[in-house]
Amino acid sequence: MSLFITFEGPDGSGKTTQISLLAEHLRAMGHDVLITREPGGTSIGDQIRTVLHDVKNVEMMGETEFLLYSASRAQLVREVLQPHLARGGTVLCDRFADSSMAYQGYGRELDLEAIRLITQFATGGLTPHLTIYLDLPVEVGIQRKQTAYVAQAGEWNRLDRQTLDFHRRVRQGYLKMARAEPDRWLVIDATQSIDDTQAAIRARLKTLLSSVRKVRTA
Ligand code: TMP
Repeated sequence: MSLFITFEGPDGSGKTTQISLLAEHLRAMGHDVLITREPGGTSIGDQIRTVLHDVKNVEMMGETEFLLYSASRAQLVREVLQPHLARGGTVLCDRFADSSMAYQGYGRELDLEAIRLITQFATGGLTPHLTIYLDLPVEVGIQRKQTAYVAQAGEWNRLDRQTLDFHRRVRQGYLKMARAEPDRWLVIDATQSIDDTQAAIRARLKTLLSSVRKVRTA
């Protein structure tokens, strides 16, 4: 049974940790799990990621930024995601199209309808079965990211340089998308412990798996 799960949330919300814990759980259940991330996940995508995150690229326009994220996504979908899902595998992806809607749409205030249309083209309509949003107050996320950077455990990219207001718009955008599609989204308070967060994710996964099975046997 193929399963596509994406993780969203500010930098510093613990996506990487939660993804590897969930992968462990799913593998123990017999799933063929592939972990990937955006932007990147392919050789071409990683090259695009370097351009996107380079703090020297101060002149990059919002439109350029969005199209580069979309280009990386188009490559990832066709080169990695679709083949793995077609084999019945499970994909856990650190960010996907909702990141573009949140950061470029709500954050940079680009036209939301244009983003929707281009995203549809880039993904070929591929949509996650479940999107887990690790929610964190903006100040806490930035603080965590700075601490990781100082400890040389994380990168500091072009988007981290944005204002607090930008990051607040991004968070509100995520919450709005989650409210609009509650069947696809799970919003979790990421100030909870790692174990409590993982428990909430596994509980929702259980519900998802039983509903997918019901549909298949109906
Ligand atoms: P991360 O690898 O630390 O998650 O960083 C990815 C950064 O890229 C993060 O600041 C969010 C940003 N981003 C966008 O702005 N739009 C997108 O479509 C994606 C995938 C990421």
